[in-house]
Amino acid sequence: MKGDIGVIGLAVMGQNLILNMNDNGFKVVAFNRTVSKVDEFLEGAAKGSNIIGASSLEDLVAKLETPRKVMLMVRAGDVVDHFIDALVPLLDEGDIIIDGGNSNYPDTNRRVAALKEKGLHYIGTGVSGGEEGARFGPSIMPGGSPEAWPHVKPIFQAIAAKTDAGEACCDWVGKDGAGHFVKMVHNGIEYGDMQLISEAYHFMKEGLGLSYDEMQAIFEEWKSTELDSYLIDITTDILGYKDEDGEPLVEKILDTAGQKGTGKWTGINALDLGIPLTLITESVFARCLSALKDQRIEAETLFGKTIAKVEGNKKEWVDALRQALLASKIISYAQGFMLIREASEENDWSLNYGNVALMWRGGCIIRSAFLGNIRDAYETNPDLKFLGLDPYFKTILTEGMAGWRKVAAKSLEIGLPMPTMTSALAFLDGYTTSRLPANMLQAQRDYFGAHTYERVDQPRGQFFHTNWTGTGGDTSSTTYDV
Ligand code: 6PG
Repeated sequence: MKGDIGVIGLAVMGQNLILNMNDNGFKVVAFNRTVSKVDEFLEGAAKGSNIIGASSLEDLVAKLETPRKVMLMVRAGDVVDHFIDALVPLLDEGDIIIDGGNSNYPDTNRRVAALKEKGLHYIGTGVSGGEEGARFGPSIMPGGSPEAWPHVKPIFQAIAAKTDAGEACCDWVGKDGAGHFVKMVHNGIEYGDMQLISEAYHFMKEGLGLSYDEMQAIFEEWKSTELDSYLIDITTDILGYKDEDGEPLVEKILDTAGQKGTGKWTGINALDLGIPLTLITESVFARCLSALKDQRIEAETLFGKTIAKVEGNKKEWVDALRQALLASKIISYAQGFMLIREASEENDWSLNYGNVALMWRGGCIIRSAFLGNIRDAYETNPDLKFLGLDPYFKTILTEGMAGWRKVAAKSLEIGLPMPTMTSALAFLDGYTTSRLPANMLQAQRDYFGAHTYERVDQPRGQFFHTNWTGTGGDTSSTTYDV
């Protein structure tokens, strides 16, 4: 009997996905560029399974049922192109190549189009959930050639995480690089959630002077609130994890954050599409700032910088902090979905926003109960322009506003940086203000560069120029917006 699917790349994600497919009754053919890894795998983690090894790409292709499905679980970038180039001559019309890495979506757009010309189908899919997700149920976000989906769907939906109602956290996202775009935004939101939690931890530790045991108990309580999520779960564990000397391990970890690029891509796309994705972008910058460790050490001394303690009832402050965290999280997801909507319209992807929320409901790093509410919001109103307008989220934002403002103001007062929580509030204040000072900005643009402006007392689309100094000309520059 031939294999249902071939998987190339036996690093931890590849191995775990293969074992997951095997558990779900699929026959998998495994291959790795360093072929000795295939034998090690078959003799090790895959021993006693139905997994078949391949000794070369030719062998892999020969062992697969048609239309062949070959999934790449390799590092994003050139390695993907290398395998595509090597596979193409070995495959037949209608065969399918799947990329399960964190590829940048324009690469996926390009690959879908290039393989279409050769009569092959291509799927670029986000796979989230780390090692454990891959092994026992990841969130899977496939996009690319729609013709390929019916062939891959039974495998992907079987191995994906399931919601409590038994729905698979995997559905067709859309054509071209839509799957990888959605995974990119997932990762951007992951950056935002992580930074928000880190800011809450910082406020508790430095502002409120709480101990690790106290902080852990608070996070434990937050698990039974709307904040309930995988990232809150692991933070609770991390806060309680002691190093060999009995001290919290996290205290000993150097405070410089790494990044592999998906958060940065999310910010770049937001700028390209003109979406105010402030929270995720701030969280990318927070990682960049954290990396300037030596400069920060020097500047702290130079400025004599300290963080003052927060006075008052700690319990009340912790509750305000919970509200600030939850409200900021809503803003982050709201901005993420604004970006997805804009990209969908721009690229004609017809994305289903409720389905995106469902795919993130389980299995992935940002999985949470909260995503169930986002899904409900989009099911009730698929045209929702801003998540905060949905009654459920609007109520949380309104009720949490006082606590959120209190924490944001206090952080500024005591010198404790909370870039995501404070900028999320600034965003909402901007979004809910009908008249912003952009009139002044337009006046300045027109003053120094004759860039023209529209008037409140004239219909939109009519542009005016004023000779502000009497010495400038009456000629205006052309009016265009990027
Ligand atoms: C996931 C993760 C995964 C990876 C991130 C880490 O969904 O399972 O997002 O894709 O852990 O890419 O990103 P950084 O290294 O940039 O933090």
